Formats: sequence, C-alpha cells, structure tokens
Amino acid sequence: MSSKAIAARLAATQILHGVLFDKRLMAEMLSGSKSPIARLSPADRARAQSMATGVLRHLEGIDAILNVYLERPPQPRAMQALRLATYEMLAEQTAAHGAVNAAVEIVRGSAKAGHLAGLVNAVARKVADEGPALWQDQKPQKLPSWLARPITKNFGKEVLTPIEAAHQAGAAIDLTLKDQGRSDEFVERLNATLLPTGSLRLPGRPQVSALPGFVEGDWWVQDAAAALPARMLGDVDGKNVLDLCAAPGGKTMQMASSGAWVSAVDISDARLDRLRENLERVGLRAHLIDEDATRFEPDEPFDAVLLDAPCSATGTIRRHPDLPFAKAGVDMSGLFDLQARLIDAALSQLKPDGYLVYCTCSLLPREGERQVADALARHENLRVAPVDWVTLGVDPTWQTADGGLRLRPDYWPDLGGMDGFYMALLQNGEKAR
Ligand SMILES: C[S@@+](CC[C@H](N)C(=O)[O-])C[C@H]1O[C@@H](n2cnc3c(N)ncnc32)[C@H](O)[C@@H]1O
Repeated sequence: MSSKAIAARLAATQILHGVLFDKRLMAEMLSGSKSPIARLSPADRARAQSMATGVLRHLEGIDAILNVYLERPPQPRAMQALRLATYEMLAEQTAAHGAVNAAVEIVRGSAKAGHLAGLVNAVARKVADEGPALWQDQKPQKLPSWLARPITKNFGKEVLTPIEAAHQAGAAIDLTLKDQGRSDEFVERLNATLLPTGSLRLPGRPQVSALPGFVEGDWWVQDAAAALPARMLGDVDGKNVLDLCAAPGGKTMQMASSGAWVSAVDISDARLDRLRENLERVGLRAHLIDEDATRFEPDEPFDAVLLDAPCSATGTIRRHPDLPFAKAGVDMSGLFDLQARLIDAALSQLKPDGYLVYCTCSLLPREGERQVADALARHENLRVAPVDWVTLGVDPTWQTADGGLRLRPDYWPDLGGMDGFYMALLQNGEKAR
C-alpha cells in the first residue's frame, strides 16, 4: 500500500489519539506546524479530519463491535487503527481490503504497536465479515453524564435521544448574506435552502471557498442559530454597537452590514487577525480592539452591546464531536465566573437605556438561563426585554420562562437541526421596546 494512501489515515489515528488519550480539542491540535495534518495535501487534510470526526461520532458503536473480538483494549495506536478501519468499513462502506491493509500498515509503522500487526489484521478481518450485521440498528451515541444530566434535568428526559441523534447526524453549512435582499438570487445560485430565520443552508459539504459569492464577499459561514443574537438587537443602522468577544466576527459582520458602527473587542490577537481578514473579504469595516473585555473602558457608552461569551461550546457538538471527550472532567467554574464578570462589564459599557444581548453556544443552563438569572439578581433594574420571535422566524415556544431564547440541536429536525444556543435581550430600567 502506498504511503500516500496511508497519510490521511495515519493523521486520522493521530487526531483520535490526541482527542481520546490526551484530551485535546481538534481545533487546537490542527493548527500549527506540528499538527498531524500539517504536511498533508488539502484533500488529505479534509479526509483525515472527516474520518476522525466520523469515528468520534460513532465511537460507542465502533467500540461495542471491537469489544466482541478484543479481550482488552490493545496499545492505543493499534486501537485507533482498528477504530478507523471499523468506521471506514461499516459507516463508509469502504472496501475491506483497503481499510484492513491500511490499519495493518499504520500499526506496523509504530515502534510501540508494531508487534500487534497480526492481531489488528485478524480483528479487522472479523469486523469486515461479521461487523455489518452488528452495525444494524445502532442507537445514537450517548452523551457523557456530565452533559446528559443537565440536559435531562432542564429540558426533560425525552429530549436527550433526539439531541444525541442530531449530534450524530452532523451539521450542514449555513451562510449569512451580506445583503439579505439577495436571498432568492443565492438560493438559486447555491442550490441552497432558505431557513425560516433568513440563513441559507447548503446541500452536502462543498468546498466553501470555491462557491459563487465567496471571493466577492457576498456571504460568510455562520450557523443559523449563531445568526440570531445580532438580529435580536433589531435595527442597528447608524448606531454605535459594541461586539464583545467578537472574533472571528460572524456577528460583527452582521451588524456592520446592517449599517452599525461596530467596535469589536477580543482578547486574542490571533483571532482578531482572522476577524480582520473576514472583514476584508466581505468589504466591511469595524473598529478592532485587542483587549480583555472585562477591562475595556470606552470613551463613550454604546447604544447596544452584544456579548457572545466564551463558553463550553457544547451547543456545537454536531460540528465538533471531539468536545464531549476532550472536555470530560474539565473544571468550568472559571469560565462561569468569567461569563458573569463579562455581563457586568458589558452593562457598564452600555448607555442607560441601551440593549445588551447575552448569548452562549452552550447546552448548559449554567452558561445561559442561570447566568441571566444571576445577573438579574445582581442588577436591581435589569430586565429581560421582549422580542418579536415570529418576525425573526423563530418558533415562539422556544422562548424560556425568563423571556430568553433556548435553541437546541434537535430543533428543525426536518431541516437538519441547528446549534445549541441561549440568548437574551437585556435592558436596564422598566422601559421595554
Ligand atoms: C464564542 S467566541 C466568539 C464568536 C464571535 N462572537 C463570532 O460571532 O464570530 C468567544 C471569543 O471570546 C474571546 N474571549 C475570551 N475571553 C475574553 C475576554 N476576557 N475578553 C475579550 N474576549 C475574550 C475569545 O478569544 C473568542 O474569540
């Protein structure tokens, strides 16, 4: 087997090892010159990532089958190679000889696992013969208890399996148009679906940079759920708006394209570089500020503030199936504390009657509903302001008791789901829109 045929698979096993053994997030692992995909061709990079995410989405089922043939998990490199071969043969229906030979080659090339080549060959062949029958009727992969518990407690037992199914199904690519008035044109040019909230959903998984309108900067990639917080602010044309925790800038671009004067604050200069590149591509302007948002002291308070706080990102598991594994056991109390401090800072940067949107791409109420409840308790005059959900294309039953909006991956099942998110429109004083 040629080393070219092995390269993407070897990288996929290294990614799996990083996530499952070292508890690293794929996004962290895949940047930089030491990344497992650094030396691969663009096609092999995409293939390695797609295989690794595929294995992670089906890990429970894959391991259940491998456990039939393994007395105990073998050395990690051998285990990752077997997981990958099982995924290829059963989920992707790759020809058995290619997948089995690749697994054997990967293990042979390892000083620590080379002696297990025979075992890997024997187990992979068994999986090829008997696996398809065992693969039938797989239930969606279960979420770990640290995530399943708060979901069932807050949203009900019955929502867990649909959320798990949505995670396993993965996510389509959604776009936000710079000019919403061109929806019909881009629905046709991209063969896209116009979603109820105005985002466009692409069919399949095309190479985004090759699509019509990318070079011209007519749109950017943004999950439909992530496009809603900026729209909750209503008409921002001509207003001074502060985007806190702004990079890579999906919401900055939305507000700038609606005519707002946007100041975008982020603590990461590398991520602000990405925001700058994104703004350049779409031909929009914003004032970029490289600073800790809790310390930012503007000369003048803003008409509106959007705070998309750093969070567990558990609402994005459809696209990041590594997250439940990499974040298992991680202490998030510092993050929860930061979210509260960011809300307090945002309120201090806002005009007395201005609006603050607080949002997180999280499924944990601790980072959404609870943060808002705590903020209301800390700030006597703070209120959740009403929002016309129907105008935004949102099902009004998704509104929470506190007046915020809870979005879940199992919503829009026929359209392909959405990211999990929580968002609320806050205002000081009695006045409401
Ligand atoms: C959820 S992401 C923001 C996504 C962005 N709003 C968008 O729509 O593209 C969270 C961001 O918060 C930034 N961040 C984390 N802590 C921060 C802090 N103390 N001050 C400012 N930015 C912070 C991170 O660098 C990251 O870019």
